[in-house]
Amino acid sequence: MTSNTAQQDAAVADKSILANSAYADGRHLAARQSIYRWQQPQYDLPGIVVEELAATSGIVLDVGCGNGKFVSRLHKDRPDLQAVGMDISAGILADVEKPVLVSDAQALPFADNSVDAVLALHMLYHVGDIVATIKELARILRPGGVLIASTNSDIDKRELDQLWSKAAGDVLGIPEGGPARVSLSSRFSLEKACGYLGTAFKDIRVRELPGTIEITDPAPIAAHLASYEAWADECGVPFRETVSRAAEVAAGAIASNGSFKITCLGGILMCRL
Ligand SMILES: C[S@@+](CC[C@H](N)C(=O)[O-])C[C@H]1O[C@@H](n2cnc3c(N)ncnc32)[C@H](O)[C@@H]1O
Repeated sequence: MTSNTAQQDAAVADKSILANSAYADGRHLAARQSIYRWQQPQYDLPGIVVEELAATSGIVLDVGCGNGKFVSRLHKDRPDLQAVGMDISAGILADVEKPVLVSDAQALPFADNSVDAVLALHMLYHVGDIVATIKELARILRPGGVLIASTNSDIDKRELDQLWSKAAGDVLGIPEGGPARVSLSSRFSLEKACGYLGTAFKDIRVRELPGTIEITDPAPIAAHLASYEAWADECGVPFRETVSRAAEVAAGAIASNGSFKITCLGGILMCRL
């Protein structure tokens, strides 16, 4: 588990970094999503969301929809719903199926009690005021509506944290390891999520999604680490050099052990008022 400095936490929630760099387009998000190709068991996250919305009709707002993975599945599997993609980044919305809107989750342009379901998938750790945003999501939900949120555990992908620290130590000449990797999800990790969501929602059901990624090629590992480039200034180590060194270390582990294993723990939370 890595824990961020206050400066790193501020950068993870910095709207300018998010909209203009980290998610200016879908490139970095796609690199992070693609590593799950090697995970066992495989989870069809859009399929789980469709399943959880079986009893829902009307408007579904995907807050922080990113590259539209969930919106496009809803359009395909549930054409009866009005699925709307929303993100703080206009750039990442360019290829997302319409209707979409650029907005901040902290001030949604929707009336009270006007939406039947809200998705906030792997995005609440990026908002400045997590409690106020959850209150805002609850405000627009109709009575009986559902919020589906998701995030990662503090122990998710800990082998990548160790790999980063080893590589950073090698780059800086610190044998016991260099600065920890910036953590995206720690502000709203699976361990913290129920506490936050419980400030506005009474009924919360958690579905944990444990798995193991086993990779025999260092390239997707390097691509995953490189996808944090927007936060390079907060790493305390030359970023690209550290990614290259991590790829070498991962290649060495693959040569010795046959593969590089990454333990994953994500979770999806179904919340009702
Ligand atoms: C890790 S991505 C998740 C994308 C998508 N929900 C998924 O699970 O594949 C986080 C997304 O949240 C968006 N985001 C971050 N802060 C936001 C905010 N305050 N309001 C709206 N969207 C935001 C980012 O631009 C990014 O597209």
